[in-house]
Amino acid sequence: MRSAACAVVLLLMIYQGEALRCNYCFGKGTTLCTPTSVQTCSPLANACGAVILGSPLNSSFRQCMNMAVCQGYIKTPGAFASCCSTDLCN
Ligand SMILES: *[C@@H]1O[C@H](CO)[C@@H](O)[C@H](O)[C@H]1NC(C)=O
Repeated sequence: MRSAACAVVLLLMIYQGEALRCNYCFGKGTTLCTPTSVQTCSPLANACGAVILGSPLNSSFRQCMNMAVCQGYIKTPGAFASCCSTDLCN
């Protein structure tokens, strides 16, 4: 019964919207990329992230991502990240 309930919840998430929307861009350099377009997230991506990867990568991006993945960027040395979970919050 428990797994059936999980399946129903998952289907509701997929088919009934609640899709998060995030700003999307990718760029070179150590400042946050612009301009942005809008990306509709898949159900597995429950957060919008803005990430700057410092030297030597020197790149940045904003996109939908899983909150746990985004938190991982926050903990990554040399990276700056902000993670949030409302529409276009990044
Ligand atoms: C990345 O940025 C740093 C600091 O501005 C710079 O010293 C370095 O050369 C850059 N690296 C690349 C691969 O562009």
